Amino acid sequence: MLQKPKYLECKTIRKNEMSENLLLLAGDGIGSEIMAEVEKLIAFLNKSGKTDFKIDKGLVGGVAYDAHGEAISDEDMEKALMCDAVIFGAVGGPKWDNVPYDKRPEAGLLRLRKDLGLFANLRPAICYPALSDASALKPEIVEGLDILIVRELTGGVYFGEPKTITELGDNENGKNQKRAIDTQIYESYEIERIAKVAFDMARTRGKKLHSADKKNVMISGVLWDEVVREVASENKDIEFNHILADNCAMQLVRNPKQFDVIVTDNLFGDILSDTAAMLTGSLGMLPSASLGAPDKITGKRKAMYEPVHGSAPDIAGQKIANPIAMIASFVMALRYSFNMVELADEVDAAITSVLADGLRCGDIMQDGCKLAGTREMGDAIIAKLEQ
Ligand code: IPM
Ligand code: MG
Repeated sequence: MLQKPKYLECKTIRKNEMSENLLLLAGDGIGSEIMAEVEKLIAFLNKSGKTDFKIDKGLVGGVAYDAHGEAISDEDMEKALMCDAVIFGAVGGPKWDNVPYDKRPEAGLLRLRKDLGLFANLRPAICYPALSDASALKPEIVEGLDILIVRELTGGVYFGEPKTITELGDNENGKNQKRAIDTQIYESYEIERIAKVAFDMARTRGKKLHSADKKNVMISGVLWDEVVREVASENKDIEFNHILADNCAMQLVRNPKQFDVIVTDNLFGDILSDTAAMLTGSLGMLPSASLGAPDKITGKRKAMYEPVHGSAPDIAGQKIANPIAMIASFVMALRYSFNMVELADEVDAAITSVLADGLRCGDIMQDGCKLAGTREMGDAIIAKLEQ
C-alpha cells in the first residue's frame, strides 16, 4: 500500500484545520455512473462522522461543450482553482469527434492539468491478490505487483508549441499535401521537479527508480537524462537505472516486478501507464493522482484525482462499468490531499476484501466469480466499511 511520502506533508495546516472542499467533475460516458459511487461513499463517510466533505459539481468534456461550447467553462475552472481537490471522471466520446480541436473534450482535462499546475502524475499499478488470474499475463508474473509510474503531466509534446497543420498545396501528382507539427519541449526545471518527486516516492517504497526516455533519438531525452542523473546524484540511497522507453514497454510485459518507480515524460507516461494498468487485470482498476507544487504559504498542493481509464462510450449508460479505479482515485485524495491515511487504508482494504469475496465487474470477471454492476460494486465496498 502506498505511504504518504514526507514531502507531501503539509507543514502549516493540521488536519482539523483543513477544509474539505471537493469539486466533482464526472465528465462523459461512464463518468457519471462511476462518480455516483464516489458520491455514495462520500455521503456514507460524512454520515459516519469520519469526514466532513463539502461537494460542489461542474461540467467537463463533451457535456461541458454541449452546455456552453467549451470543454470547461471559466466558472468551473475557477471552482477547480479554489477547491481542495478535484475528483475527475472521464472525458470524450464519438459524439464529439468533429468539434473544433481546441474545444474537444480532452481539452478540458488538459486545461485543468495545465492551469492547476499539476505536473506530477502518480499512477500506481497494484495487482490485487484476487486478480492475479485476471491479467493477460501469467499469474506468477503479476502476483504481488506494486509499481508506480510517475508521469510528467504539464509539459512535453502535449503542450509544446508550435502545434499546427499547415497547407502545402498540391504535389506533382495533384494531391493535396499538409504538414503537421507537434513540439516536444522540456526545460531543466520541469525535469528536475518531477525527478525529485519520483525519488521521494521511491524512498517510501522499494528504493529503486528507472528513468525512461528516448535519448537515443530525441535531444529532449538527452536533457531529460542529464537532469535526472543530477537529481540521482543527490539521492544516492535510491538505486538509479536509465532505461529506453521502448525497452521499458517490453520489460513491463516481460518482467514487471523488476520495477519499483518509473519516472518518465508526459507522452511515454501516457503509454507506459496503460500497459502497467493492464498488468493488474484491467484498465478499470487503475487510479491516479495529479499534484502541483506546494503553496508557498499554506503548504497545500493543488490536486486532481482521476482514473486512468477513459469514458468507455461503448458501455456508457449500461450501469456495468467498474467503479474501482474511480473509488481508488478518491482514496488517493484521502491520502495525498487530506492526510487521512488510516481511512484511505480502510477503503483500500474494503476493495481488496470485496475482490477476495469473488465479486467482479465485467472487465475483471473470472470463472466462479459473481458478476456485479457499477452500483452493486459500490454498495459492496461501502458494506465492507460498515462492518
Ligand atoms: C490519460 C488519458 C489522457 C492523456 C487523454 C484523455 C487526454 O489518456 O490520462 O492517460 O492522454 O493524458
Ligand atoms: Mg492515457
